[in-house]
This record gives sequence, structure tokens and C-alpha cells, in this order.
Amino acid sequence: MLDTFLDRTIAPGYGKLGLVLRRRLPGWPADPPRMDGQVVMVTGAASGIGLAAAQGFASLGATVLAVARNEQRAKDAEKALSGDVRGVACDVSSVAALRELAEGVERLDVLVNNAGVMPGERSRSVDDVELTFATHVLGPFVLIQALAPVLEANAPARVINVTSGGMYTQALRPGDLMSEQDEYNPKTFYARSKRAEVVVTEQLATRLAGTGIVVHSMHPGWADTAGIQHAMPVFRKVAGPILRSDAEGADTIVWLGGAAEPLQSTGKLWMDRAMRPTHYRFGASPDGVEAREELWKLCERLASAV
Ligand SMILES: NC(=O)c1ccc[n+]([C@@H]2O[C@H](COP(=O)([O-])OP(=O)(O)OC[C@H]3O[C@@H](n4cnc5c(N)ncnc54)[C@H](OP(=O)(O)O)[C@@H]3O)[C@@H](O)[C@H]2O)c1
Repeated sequence: MLDTFLDRTIAPGYGKLGLVLRRRLPGWPADPPRMDGQVVMVTGAASGIGLAAAQGFASLGATVLAVARNEQRAKDAEKALSGDVRGVACDVSSVAALRELAEGVERLDVLVNNAGVMPGERSRSVDDVELTFATHVLGPFVLIQALAPVLEANAPARVINVTSGGMYTQALRPGDLMSEQDEYNPKTFYARSKRAEVVVTEQLATRLAGTGIVVHSMHPGWADTAGIQHAMPVFRKVAGPILRSDAEGADTIVWLGGAAEPLQSTGKLWMDRAMRPTHYRFGASPDGVEAREELWKLCERLASAV
């Protein structure tokens, strides 16, 4: 009951206190076992939650492919991490760059699509796709499918897509899934793309059923990262004392990547090592079948255009 209370009241649950209290509750899942011999790819690994997740996997003995936006950031990631880590440059909003990235991967057990953006003004990827959509939706859509053969070869394998609790406020916009017809608002566009990411996670989970690859999404609560400091300075000032550390934000990513329980299901949303609903009564309504199908077709069209 306390866990559900923390989830529904948002601020206490999403902040540091939520994780501290949940860790003390009976039934808190055990830490993941060692991951020696496994290969984990984490995108957005040069900072924040991605860096902390990469370190978490490396500390468990996994080989980590730390993906960052360019050579310099890949070097930054390598320098900041200890263990068996290789920095890899890739702009994850670029379809061609993602395909090239996937071509160079020989073994993979866990893929974490963590890279995220909240641009201050409307921005577009190199493929001319709205940037939050390109980064949070199209990128994972392309990378997961490009890596599916190598993940399947190492089954059971896992994909973890990092979304945001902000997605509870937004539904898909049928007819305008990339919000091209709407005035730009950083938080709204970000949250819409994070909602679409959860829908695409469910769709990929269904399509990959039977391959031995499970596909989950998770949200980290609120962590005091460079991303938050840059994109939401006012929120950061007000919420500062209750925000989680980067490692606390990454806790459920590492758990999903290594523990046994997440292999028992696919297409679920997680937070603090537990499954969570994708909709609440106070938030956006569930999306219709047609809107979801339109999203899948849009991703297919955008991916095939490159
Ligand atoms: N912090 C929170 O409270 C919170 C809450 C909900 C969800 N999240 C999600 O958690 C994830 C990590 O965010 P964070 O808070 O750790 O922010 P962050 O420190 O800004 O990390 C985001 C990372 O993604 C990288 N990135 C962005 N676009 C990229 C691209 N096109 N190609 C390659 N890398 C790219 C960034 O690289 P550069 O540094 O080089 O730009 C950065 O390393 C995001 O998906 C975010 O939406 C965070």
C-alpha cells in the first residue's frame, strides 16, 4: 500500500524518499547477480543516468558499449567509467548512424535506450524529424530492430527503454503524431515523445515475442542530472533537495538488465523495481488501436525513408 501511495502522490515517490522507503519494504527485489561475460549497450552514456547505468553494469562485470553523440563524448564516457568499457560514437537521432552502429556489434545481451533531449526550441534531426521524436521514438525503433538478430542469438536478451513519468500527462495525437501542427512547448513535446516511446515498446515486445528478447520501458523518477539542470532549471531549484542521485535514477535500469524477474514478462513499464500502470485516472486516456497503428506505420515510413 505504501508503494502504491508513493507512486500516486508523485513528488514523494519520484524523489529520493520514494526509493529510500521502497528499499526498506518487505519484498524489495534482490540486487542483480554478476554479469561477467555479458555485453551491454547503453546510449547517452556520457552523463547522468546513462553514465550511472553504464557504471552499474560495468561494476557487475559486464562489458559495456558506452554510446555517446560523438567521438569526444565517447572519450568522456570511457574516461569517467571504470571496468571493461568501450566508448562508441553515434548520433542516436540519425537512422543511418544507428544502422552503422548496429553493424559493428557482434554480441549483445542488454540494450538500454537511454539518450534523451528536451530542446528549448523546435529542433530537427539530420533526417529532418522533430528531435524529441527522433531521439526517443524513431531511434529506439530502428536500433532495437537492427540489433534484434544479435540479441536473439544471445537470448534470453533484454531491451530497456528509458521513458519519463511526464508521459502520464500526454496521449498520442492521431493525425499529428510528431506535433508538427502544434506550437512548440519543450515539456509537452518531450512528454508526448516519451508516451510514444512506451507505446512503441509495447508494440516491439509483441512483435519480438518468441524470440527470447524482452522489451521493457522504465522511468527513473526525478534525478539531479545535467539534463534536468539544463532543461528545467526552475524545477531543479524548487525540487533540488528531494531529487535522486544519478545512480538512484539508474537503479531500476541495472536491475532490469540483470535480475531474473524481468525475463518473466515483456512490454511492461517499470519504476523502482516494480511494474507500473501506463495510465492513471488523473492523466491522459489510453490511446486507441488506430492511433497506435498509425504510430507504428509512421516509424516504419520514417525508417525506410533513410
Ligand atoms: N533526470 C531525470 O529526472 C529524468 C526523469 C525522467 C526521465 N529521464 C530520462 O532519463 C534519460 C537520461 O537523462 P538524464 O537526466 O541523465 O539527462 P542527461 O544527463 O542530459 O543525459 C542524456 C544523455 O543523452 C545524450 N544524448 C542526447 N541526444 C543524443 C543523441 N542524438 N545521440 C547520442 N546521445 C545523445 C546526451 O549527450 P550530450 O550530453 O552529449 O548532449 C546525454 O549524455 C533520458 O531519456 C531522460 O529523458 C530523466
